[in-house]
Amino acid sequence: MQISEKSKQMELSPIRRFNEMARDAENRGIKIYRVNIGQPDIKTPECYMEAVRNYPDDVIAYMESGGTDDLREAVSDYYASFGDDFAPDEIMITSGGSEALSMVFTTILNEGDEVLVADPYYSNYSTFVLSAGGQIARIPTHAEEGYHFAYRERIEQAITPRTKAICCTSPGNPTGDVLTQDEMHMICEIAEEHDLWIVSDEVYREFVYDGGAVASFGREKEYLDRIIITDSISKRYSCCGGRIGILISKNRDVMNGAMKLAQGRLSVSTLDQAGAAALFRLPTSYYDEIRDEYEKRRDIVYSELTKIPGVVCVKPRGSFYVTVKLPVDDIEDFLVFLLTEFEDKKETVMFAPADGFYYDSERGKNKMRLAYVLEGEQMRRSVELIRLGLEAYEKKQAEN
Ligand SMILES: Cc1ncc(COP(=O)(O)O)c(C=O)c1O
Repeated sequence: MQISEKSKQMELSPIRRFNEMARDAENRGIKIYRVNIGQPDIKTPECYMEAVRNYPDDVIAYMESGGTDDLREAVSDYYASFGDDFAPDEIMITSGGSEALSMVFTTILNEGDEVLVADPYYSNYSTFVLSAGGQIARIPTHAEEGYHFAYRERIEQAITPRTKAICCTSPGNPTGDVLTQDEMHMICEIAEEHDLWIVSDEVYREFVYDGGAVASFGREKEYLDRIIITDSISKRYSCCGGRIGILISKNRDVMNGAMKLAQGRLSVSTLDQAGAAALFRLPTSYYDEIRDEYEKRRDIVYSELTKIPGVVCVKPRGSFYVTVKLPVDDIEDFLVFLLTEFEDKKETVMFAPADGFYYDSERGKNKMRLAYVLEGEQMRRSVELIRLGLEAYEKKQAEN
């Protein structure tokens, strides 16, 4: 018996691969700073817990497949608060942003269709696109340019007769790159010219630093028929385990197609939808506080990174990730060294090797992705451990 070719093409998560080695190090009494995964340490707002605790019904029943009216109204109001007009029936609640993405690609792709992404990209896109029968196609980016991809010629060069959609992640994972509203507009023009869908993954929407404006494809009113937005409570509200995501589109075919999949899986967690509705009703000051906290962390991480000889890193403008070129030939070998041989005062650090985020893993062989999900002092120590680890690694290599 054989499993499918689709499944064979998929990869295990590059982020979770080194967990066993990390556990072994912990069993040896080593403290590990885990900056490999986008799991923030920020407290989930209390209103979520209260809404779950005070849930009034005696039976935790199935809810409507597209989500509860209460949550969809709360999401619609949240979007209206920054000028985007989406009615509750243009909003579907999903099990995390992950399910929203999976439903979108299943709804829009035929066998062999290509989805354009800026390379490196959030590696699960590949899983979702492949399982929907599509293929990833890439827009190359460069560390020296901060991995920015929004250049008309570069995007147009990557379009082929098989291209069906362009998937944009702004602010971005794994690079922290951010699109301006003008750049989103330019991408809409290209999409219209080539008749492409735009899948806009906006799970990090408010995480924009240096006074940058929060942009959204939802504001591109003339193009809304081809725009599909995916969103989530995971990062914005530090509620990764709540597993509530959102799919938004004014295109009825997309919403009807997604509804067939939603009905197939019946419903999303009832209690978590109650909690999520409370989150979307938080005052806007909440977003400012969270952004300021991550911006502080970003500044610490960047300033510590620039102390490492040979790194290439442009200050990221958004999300809570930075992808950094290091003076090593094999990033996985360096990570294994950090987890199995290196320690400083019984401490070491774990990042995500960036090769797993690249279309061609060779291009990520000398890069790491850091998630600044720990508070400032711990982030400072994490980067210090990378610097000390590099010195020890270079010494070891010189001796061999
Ligand atoms: C860019 C991006 N999109 C989507 C997701 C999925 O998030 P969730 O399924 O937790 O909502 C993540 C998670 O890390 C992400 O980084």
